[in-house]
Amino acid sequence: MRAADIQDDLSQILVTEEEILAKLDELAARVTEDYAGKDLVLVGVLKGAVMVMADFARALPIHAPMDWMAVSSYGSSTKSSGVVQIRKDLDTDLHGKHVLIVEDIIDSGLTLSWLLENFESRGPESIEVLALLRKPEAAKVEIDCKYVGFDIPVDFVVGYGLDYDERYRNLRDVAVLAPHVYS
Ligand code: PRP
Repeated sequence: MRAADIQDDLSQILVTEEEILAKLDELAARVTEDYAGKDLVLVGVLKGAVMVMADFARALPIHAPMDWMAVSSYGSSTKSSGVVQIRKDLDTDLHGKHVLIVEDIIDSGLTLSWLLENFESRGPESIEVLALLRKPEAAKVEIDCKYVGFDIPVDFVVGYGLDYDERYRNLRDVAVLAPHVYS
């Protein structure tokens, strides 16, 4: 889906598909250099990270097995409490592996904060984070994210994996959702 197909629903295109793909190429070059000769595993966080993972992994010229984690919060206080429930765990044993978590967005940082602590206990050799988007002004906890695509304002953004009520994930660009859609 292109922004032009649903232009009434969007107030602004924030990052275009071309900009996303160029940035992922750039990040892939850095990751390739940083992980030369290392046993790398990519971990995507469902569902938002699907698009980032698909394009980022294909931009890598090195072997990079991927695994997936699905998490959700307890009740409605998920995001504010930072308490996370595992809905689908990894198939991979992280022991001795160099783990790169691939995320679409860091908002409050609570999901990643919990995930990082959880993964630490599994004995990986190293853990780093790659996030396409980050909202610095929304941070409730600081996340040490080595590979960041774009810092964006605290707007309601959709597209490229990000949803509103499960819609817009298949939009090619990242865009600000028009307030009339959710109010
Ligand atoms: C989004 C996103 C991150 C998380 C970031 O997932 O994919 O995992 O929120 O928010 P935080 O930094 O405030 O914790 P969401 O829970 O919306 O699920 P989804 O990926 O299935 O859309």
